Amino acid sequence: MCGIIGIIASQGNIVDELYRGLKLLEYRGYDSAGMAVVRDGELLIIKDKGMIEEIHRRYNFLSLEGSVGIAHTRWATHGAPDKVNAHPHTDCTETIAVVHNGIIENYLELKEELMKSGHVFRSRTDTEVVPHLIEEYMRSGLPFKDAFIKAVRRLRGAYAIAAISANSPDKIMCARAESPLVLGIGNGRGYCSSDIPSLVAFTDSVLPLGEGEYAVITPDSVSIRRISDDSPVRRRFKKVSMSVEEAKKEGYPHYMLKEIHEQPYTIKYALELQRNYLDLMSSFIDRASRLFFVAAGTSYHAGMVGSYVFSKLARVVGFPVIASEFVSHYGESVSVDDAVLAISQSGETRDVLWAVEYAKARGATVLAIVNVLASTLTRIARVYLHQQSGPEIGVAATKTYTGQLASLYLLALTLARNRGKLGQDELDHFLQELYRTPGVVREVLGQVEEDTKRVAKLLKDARYVIFLGRGVNTATAHEGRLKLMEISYIPSLSYPAGENKHGPISLVEKGVPVVALVQDDETKKYMLSNIHEVRTRGAKTIVISSSGDEEVSEVADILIEVPRVDPLFTPITYVVPLQLIAYYTAVLRGLDPDKPRNLAKSVTVI
Ligand code: M6R
Repeated sequence: MCGIIGIIASQGNIVDELYRGLKLLEYRGYDSAGMAVVRDGELLIIKDKGMIEEIHRRYNFLSLEGSVGIAHTRWATHGAPDKVNAHPHTDCTETIAVVHNGIIENYLELKEELMKSGHVFRSRTDTEVVPHLIEEYMRSGLPFKDAFIKAVRRLRGAYAIAAISANSPDKIMCARAESPLVLGIGNGRGYCSSDIPSLVAFTDSVLPLGEGEYAVITPDSVSIRRISDDSPVRRRFKKVSMSVEEAKKEGYPHYMLKEIHEQPYTIKYALELQRNYLDLMSSFIDRASRLFFVAAGTSYHAGMVGSYVFSKLARVVGFPVIASEFVSHYGESVSVDDAVLAISQSGETRDVLWAVEYAKARGATVLAIVNVLASTLTRIARVYLHQQSGPEIGVAATKTYTGQLASLYLLALTLARNRGKLGQDELDHFLQELYRTPGVVREVLGQVEEDTKRVAKLLKDARYVIFLGRGVNTATAHEGRLKLMEISYIPSLSYPAGENKHGPISLVEKGVPVVALVQDDETKKYMLSNIHEVRTRGAKTIVISSSGDEEVSEVADILIEVPRVDPLFTPITYVVPLQLIAYYTAVLRGLDPDKPRNLAKSVTVI
């Protein structure tokens, strides 16, 4: 996720506004930033790696001057977070500048085509194809506007793009597909930006650009058309009266709810991991004699799921280990033959860093799945996968958990293919099911909101809650328990349901809520009998299962059905209702789910 902004005025200098707007977008990414303005027919650019403020101290953005400009704050996807990969990107003539948020899926083929026509690329980004494509069409005689539209029609994937040209300083061109873009108008200025908050500081007239639309922005007008057929779109500007803080949540009352709803996109981004890094990591794992998944909290639960799927798909045994326990549990035996796959959203969790530094010192291969690029973990790891979930503001991990799962599934399937453990049909089936998960999560979000609110009403006054899972969803039960406990402060217990009769069933009495996860695999019949056991003893059962399963509906007091995927992938789809249950329970208890007491987003102490 990146942030983009563009401003055009009929006269005067827009740089101060551009800079302030860019700062408001910094939550969307902060590993590099840049700005381009047109002055006296020339394109002027400042860009570098680092946070906006650091770059400003180095070069002074306000030394630029112009009445049209674009700016970008980056969360790197393709290409390391360095100066050359920072946006804006330009064409060969350095007269066209482009900022972009999203991922252009067909950039490699476009790049190859453009290179054959003589274009010289400087960065490793997907974005740089856009200014070169515009240049290519301008070379053939098209004006900037038409060349922009023609270029955008060639793009596949997700994008919000803004472009300016030194030869046409009277307009900003912008377009969107999947990534957000908002337009604004007022005070003799036209605006575009990735979000409303960065605009409400300047204007109260805003209008979201729709999916598959482009816009021509001038200081006093905005004209919108469809990219596909150029048909005009008529949509009125709306007056917004909200504070910057309210606007940042994009209409959601809390960041946590916003982040839960971002998952259809963030899972999709994680599934765009580059094949060469997956192959590289898979070859290190294949050569290791032992594999450890090392992580803390929610990321540890992702490691547990990883352990199941690596075994089931790739026949690789991996031990999930709580990071703070790694050294005392396995320290003496760690050797050069081992691989440690650290999973950490922040890449800064001290317990995780302690474990990997220790393992590395003993010669083990350190691998990582991270969300924050340029974090300490990325510097320690031999190979890392960047899950691309974007910044997560809520303390409770939600979208980054499903992003970790998606990355692990993709890695497991890469490993299975490279080790020859799955036949072609099986591999195709699993890949197809995995790539369906973003859409299924979108359906889940559309279906379960009311059911989860009903469950929250039941849980809000509970003395304690029990979560049960089996097989691949044992970790999902743990994750549901952690989510509920950390933001609603209700003591909760989770365990593999097979443990019921070995102790915990003594806690079950009339009215105790038991949340049970049932997937349609070899564990189902045992799980159903575990639910019977607790129900007979008076528990209120809340069952999450795949749609159309009659046996399950017979044992559920409240049934939450989610659309079917292969049972192996249900950890991605089943966790979504659990996140919502935790969220609504916290809200009903009058708590702020974004800021649970005593917790921090990144735990940098042991
Ligand atoms: O940044 P990390 O993934 O390493 O963080 C690990 C845990 O601190 C984190 O998952 C924590 O458990 C969250 N509060 C869970 O919602």
